[in-house]
Amino acid sequence: MSGTSLDGLDVALCTCQGHGNTLRVALEQFQTVPYSTDLRQRIRAVSQPNVALQDLTLLHAELGRYHAAQVLACLSAWHVQPAAVDLLASHGQTLWHAPAHQHQRTDFGHHATLQIGDGDHLAALTGIITVADFRQKHVAHGFEGAPLAGFADQLLFAAPTENRLLLNLGGIGNFTYLPADSSTGPALTTDTGPANTLLDAVTRAHYPGRLYDEHGALAAQGAAHPELLRELLAHPFFAAALPKTTGPELFGIDYLRAAQARTHTSALPAQHLLATLVELSATGVALAAQQSSMLATVGAEIVAYVSGGGSHNATLMAALRRLLPEVRFASIDELGIPADAKEAVLFAVLANETIAGNPALSLGKICLP
Ligand SMILES: Nc1ncnc2c1ncn2[C@@H]1O[C@H](COP(=O)(O)OP(=O)(O)O)[C@@H](O)[C@H]1O
Ligand SMILES: [Mg+2]
Repeated sequence: MSGTSLDGLDVALCTCQGHGNTLRVALEQFQTVPYSTDLRQRIRAVSQPNVALQDLTLLHAELGRYHAAQVLACLSAWHVQPAAVDLLASHGQTLWHAPAHQHQRTDFGHHATLQIGDGDHLAALTGIITVADFRQKHVAHGFEGAPLAGFADQLLFAAPTENRLLLNLGGIGNFTYLPADSSTGPALTTDTGPANTLLDAVTRAHYPGRLYDEHGALAAQGAAHPELLRELLAHPFFAAALPKTTGPELFGIDYLRAAQARTHTSALPAQHLLATLVELSATGVALAAQQSSMLATVGAEIVAYVSGGGSHNATLMAALRRLLPEVRFASIDELGIPADAKEAVLFAVLANETIAGNPALSLGKICLP
C-alpha cells in the first residue's frame, strides 16, 4: 500500500485463514520502505491535470517494477521465499481521484480514479499471483472508488460488544463506523477531508528538509486562526452528505493559499498555519461524525481506533479528543494491528476475499505471472 502522502510503500506479510465471516488474519511482518525524494517528486509531477503522457506511461511500469523489487527485498530480509507467498495485493499509487462532484464535467457524470504501478509487473517479477487495481470495480458499479476500508474493517473489526469507529489518518482522513448492534444500520464509511496532506505541504514549504511535523510539535507552538479556519471549512466538501470521498487534488496548497488570500492571512507564521490545519483536519472528522447519526443514536460509548501516520501527531489527536468528547480514542494497536500497517492489511484482506470468490466483495484485477 502507498497512500497519497507519498511517504513510502507499506509492505505487510499476512496469514489469512478462511474468508468472509470465518476470516482470521495475522500480521507476520511489516515494513515501510520510504520513497526517495526523486521518486516522490516524479509521482507528484504526474499527479496533476496536465501531464506529459510519456512520463505517466513510463512511471506506470517503473513503479510496478519498483514495488516488485521492494516486495522481494522485504521477503528476502524476512527469510521468506517468494514461492511461499500465495498472493500479492497491490494498491498502486493513486495519481488522480475524480468523483463526479470533484471533476464536475457536464458531458461525463461518472466517477473516475487512477492508480499506477502495473500489477502485471509485480506478478512477472515476483512470480506471485497479484491482485491489483482494487478501486475500478467499485467505480464501475457507480460508487466513488473510495474509501474501500469499510469492507475489510467490517470483516476484521465488527464487534457485538462495542461501537467502533475505525479512523485512519493518512494524507486524507477516513472512517468506518461499526455499531455494536448492527441492526442500528449498515456500516458507514466515508472520507473526512484532509488529514496530513496540507500539514505536510506547509511543513515542507516552511521548514526545508522536514517531511512532516513530527508529533505535531510545530503546530503545538501555534494557535488556530479562527477566520482562516472558517474560510477553509466553507468548502462545500464539509457540508456534503455522507458518504463522500476526496483527495489532495482538491485539498492542495492552492485551496489553502486561496483561503489565506481571502482572509488576508497570507503572512500568517507557519506554526499558526499548522495549528489552523490541525484544527481543520480534526474538525473534518468531527463534522462527519456529527453528520452521521452515530453520536445521536447510541447511548453506549464509541471507541475510535486510530491508524495511519496522523495517529502519531499528538496535536491532532488532542484536537480530536477535544472536539469529540463523546468518543474514547484508542490506537488500532489495541486490536492487534500496528497503526502504520493497518491499511496494507486491509488490502491483503480484500485480495483474499476476491480470490476466495466472495460474490459481494470481488474487487481488483487478478494478474498471473
Ligand atoms: N511521527 C509522526 N508525527 C507526525 N506525523 C506523522 C508521523 N509519522 C507519520 N506522520 C504523518 O503521516 C503521514 C503518512 O501517513 P500514512 O498513513 O502513510 O498516509 P498515506 O496513506 O497517505 O500514505 C506522513 O506524511 C506524516 O504526515
Ligand atoms: Mg503512507
